[in-house]
This record gives sequence, C-alpha cells and structure tokens, in this order.
Amino acid sequence: MLKKALENVLTEEESDELISAFDQIGEIIIVRIPESLLSKKKIIGKTLLDEVKIVRSVFYQASAVEGEFRTRDLEILAGEDNTETEYKEFGCRFKVDVKNAFFSPRLSTERERIANLVQDGEVITNMFAGIGMFSIMAAKKKKCTVYSLDINPVASKLCDENSSLNKLAGNVISINGDATEIINKQLVDKSDRTLMLLPERSDEFLESAIKTTKNQGIIHYYSHIHADKKSEAGKLSEKHYLKITPVKSEILDSKIVRAVGPRYYQTVVDVKIFK
Ligand SMILES: C[S@@+](CC[C@H](N)C(=O)[O-])C[C@H]1O[C@@H](n2cnc3c(N)ncnc32)[C@H](O)[C@@H]1O
Repeated sequence: MLKKALENVLTEEESDELISAFDQIGEIIIVRIPESLLSKKKIIGKTLLDEVKIVRSVFYQASAVEGEFRTRDLEILAGEDNTETEYKEFGCRFKVDVKNAFFSPRLSTERERIANLVQDGEVITNMFAGIGMFSIMAAKKKKCTVYSLDINPVASKLCDENSSLNKLAGNVISINGDATEIINKQLVDKSDRTLMLLPERSDEFLESAIKTTKNQGIIHYYSHIHADKKSEAGKLSEKHYLKITPVKSEILDSKIVRAVGPRYYQTVVDVKIFK
C-alpha cells in the first residue's frame, strides 16, 4: 500500500529502498529515509499523508533509537505535529507517544509469545517495561501480577494509562525509576518470571534480574549477538549467557527476536534459575 502511494513520486528502485523503513503506528507513519532520498523527504511525507487513509501525521526518523530512554528524534514531514496515537495489539489498546517513550511494533511476535507462556497466579517483574506492552498483554488474559518498571517518567505514566484503557484479568503495577534500585528496595525474590528487554545492557542488569527472581523462576534474557550463520544466533546467545551467569541455570529455549543489522541479531534465551 505504501509503495503504491509513492508510485508517482519515486522510481521503483527508490521505493524499494524505502519500503522496509516504514512503520505505521495507529494514525502515524514513521519513515527512515536514506541519504540519497533526503531531498525528497517533504514530498514523500505529503504523498503518504494524502494517499494513506487513516494517517494524520508523517514523521521522518532523524536519529537512531538512543539514550537511556531508548527514544528517537522525529521531524514532522506532513500533517499534525503530534506524536501521540493509539495502537492495537493482541486485543489490547495502547496509548503511545512515539517520540517520548520507547515503542516498536516490531516486537509484537515476541510479546505474544511471552503472553502465551504466562500462567494464572504468576508474579512477573518487567524490568524495562516501556509503556507496559508486555505487562498489559500478559495481564489481559491471565490473573497475574506484573511489576512494570521503567526509568522514563513518560513511559511509566503511559503504562498506568494503558492499564486503565484495557480490561485486565490480572494486575499491572507501574513503578517509575531505575530497575536495580526498585528491585533492591521492594522486589527481592518476588517474581516467577522476569523480563529484561534492554538487550544492549542485559549483562549489566543480570544480577538484578536474578535478585528479583525466585528460586526456580524464569528469566527471559535478551541480547544482541553477531552470528555469521543466522541458525547459530540462538545457540551463541545461550553460550554467552552460560558464560556470564553466576547462578545454576537450565536453558529452556532460545531464538532470534529480530534482525538488527547485517549478521547481527536480537535474541532471547529463556532460562530457569536455581538459587
Ligand atoms: C527496549 S525498551 C523496552 C521495550 C518494552 N518492553 C516494549 O515492549 O515496548 C527499554 C526501556 O528501558 C528503559 N530503561 C532504561 N534504563 C533503565 C533502568 N535503569 N531502569 C528501568 N528502565 C530503564 C527505557 O526507558 C526504555 O523504555
């Protein structure tokens, strides 16, 4: 659809180059534009706004996802300069602010996988919860309690709002602050399941993840890994985890979550820990 919208503005090759660089999130389109097409960015924005029906704003992603809050610079190309919208996933509604709090539609498969693993009665620590997508999807159908931590005040506030937007079987408790500090203060040996989706810094936070997890609880350990062969990425992450973990661990599963560069992958290792 997006390619069709741009057929009068870009050549076939140009639109091929652009096509994997779009995200549509509710009424917003975010587009990453290669150097070679930057001179056409305004016309790309205007065309997308005119041609794609429910779109209200088109933004150019002017920086990578960066900094402590994992946010990005967005420049308005066309439409309303408003970075908030509503997004639906897994039967849940989410208010998102695509500029001021981390959000990626590209993690939806992984969020669904985790939501399907959760059992009634579980306590979960979601250490880097963002706007609470994993937390809310888990609590939507299961009577679980999710401590949803994030250091970004905008993300924690949206997590609270999103909990109210959805009818939940379980309970989501949004806490703003540094995950390590919150765990040390109030969440030691609390969780049956711990999520640590800050892949760039997992090793730094592994000790805190272990601290909040009960004996025989499960940690979902995310990381970034280089692999020449795609099929080896999961096993390489398992090896890395086993090398750095200070506790006895049983590997339950590992897989690629998504590619993040050439021969570079975001992976997850599910482990049961014994302490
Ligand atoms: C990759 S995003 C989380 C993605 C989220 N699970 C989702 O599905 O949308 C990482 C989050 O970690 C938060 N963060 C970074 N450092 C943190 C810390 N020390 N303690 C708690 N949260 C932190 C960032 O603000 C960001 O929202």
